[in-house]
Amino acid sequence: MAEAATRTANASQPVICVTGMRKEYRMGTETIRALNGVDCTIHENEYVAVMGPSGSGKSTLMNIIGCLDRPTAGEYWLSGENVAKFGDRALARARNRRIGFVFQTFNLLPRASALHNVEVPLLYAGVGRRERRARGRETLERVGLGDRMNHKPSELSGGQRQRVAVARALVNEPSILLADEPTGNLDSRTGEDIMDLFGALHEAGQTIILVTHESAVARRAGRHVHLMDGVVTDDYPTSELDPADVSRGAEAPPRQPKEPSR
Ligand SMILES: Nc1ncnc2c1ncn2[C@@H]1O[C@H](COP(=O)(O)OP(=O)(O)O)[C@@H](O)[C@H]1O
Ligand SMILES: [Mg+2]
Repeated sequence: MAEAATRTANASQPVICVTGMRKEYRMGTETIRALNGVDCTIHENEYVAVMGPSGSGKSTLMNIIGCLDRPTAGEYWLSGENVAKFGDRALARARNRRIGFVFQTFNLLPRASALHNVEVPLLYAGVGRRERRARGRETLERVGLGDRMNHKPSELSGGQRQRVAVARALVNEPSILLADEPTGNLDSRTGEDIMDLFGALHEAGQTIILVTHESAVARRAGRHVHLMDGVVTDDYPTSELDPADVSRGAEAPPRQPKEPSR
């Protein structure tokens, strides 16, 4: 507890500090080790792209960071509190108040208007109707959908649906915006528009962690974290990328293995 107090008092503390994180899934008699000891620290206003092959543990890590799931072992400090130890209610509260999550498949309520979809997190947070309306409208305007508030998801394009999902993620002013392959279901042009929006949010101070396997998407981030078989195999600022490699669409230049950053 003394340690937690010290961390809270330190203004330059990380937003996220994951240490020795493991996640195992039991499937009958088999144990799947989705995360095998992940260490990662992320500070305020970082823009991080998590990359790696399918099955490497990216979504598992994002779900734990997003307080949708708990690790089997290890610590997860979110703004100075060890969330890995939270009970269900505290975890749900942290998810609602501190996390904004954007999914590849948008996950909107199909029968509800854009505005109602964006208001949902405020409803869970106990915000009254008038304030919900006002903040919902304001956030939709922020993502460029001021003229689409009363449209249902089926009356919106893919890019507009994802904007509604981004607005829903932002409406509670979360400490971190998490996005798991947010452009995976969009054509490349619309994907670029969504990435422009993420870029603007980052410029405005938002901390962002995004999963992608598209190098064009990843190069917008300031840092790349590579996962393989549930461990971080590489972690570097994108400024270390060779511009020639970037323009050819390659990922990282050859690098010396290094200690995971903490
Ligand atoms: N709910 C689950 N139950 C059992 N195994 C799972 C579950 N979720 C993920 N896995 C397994 O954990 C590993 C990591 O999955 P995931 O985190 O989804 O990878 P990625 O997002 O990098 O493709 C995979 O082998 C996957 O099959
Ligand atoms: Mg995934």
